[in-house]
Amino acid sequence: MQENIDRVLIDRHTIAARVGEMAEQIAADFSKVEGGLDPVHITIVPILTGSLIFLADLIRRLPLMMQIRLVTVSSYPGKATTSQGIELKGQLPEDLTGHHVLIVDDILDSGRTIQYVTDLIAKRGCASVRSCMLLRKRIASAMNTHADYIGFDIPDEFVVGYGLDYDGFYRNLPEVVVLKKEVFA
Ligand code: IMP
Ligand code: MG
Repeated sequence: MQENIDRVLIDRHTIAARVGEMAEQIAADFSKVEGGLDPVHITIVPILTGSLIFLADLIRRLPLMMQIRLVTVSSYPGKATTSQGIELKGQLPEDLTGHHVLIVDDILDSGRTIQYVTDLIAKRGCASVRSCMLLRKRIASAMNTHADYIGFDIPDEFVVGYGLDYDGFYRNLPEVVVLKKEVFA
């Protein structure tokens, strides 16, 4: 595995420090939420599988009452039957009345995933919906997509590690890295 790494883009200490800052900001914003939920809590909606490691680190630094509803977003680019070519599966309740939702994902690229999930959650009656991404690519599609919390803006390169995969592998690397070109050949 290590022999396929070209270079480390964001090391583990830098990630940990930034996740801590993000958690502080999120905790400050969400500590003010009010609503009819008993007990008062926030609802975290992590998009699997890429957000796995980020999620685990982030939520342990959020001293807030929360419930976690895991979702998976599958893309079906070739299918004409689904309008956007995206489908959501998982634990998201049909009725989100009164919920303050935080969507957590690994990376903002085309923006399609976060746009789709945000719209869908907004339609279920939630009190508020915000999004949190560890990474955002410095490309127009990503920069023009609304996101409330971003960890790092990165160059338009394919990255893996800290939850992100290539062909299902490399999620367990503790840093965000760029792979050698020959891996993709
Ligand atoms: P979007 O809908 O194009 O913004 O897609 C975001 C999703 O694409 C992420 O949740 C990742 O699963 C995947 N993705 C986009 N860029 C990368 C990358 O550089 N490495 C690994 N996965 C990526
Ligand atoms: Mg993903």
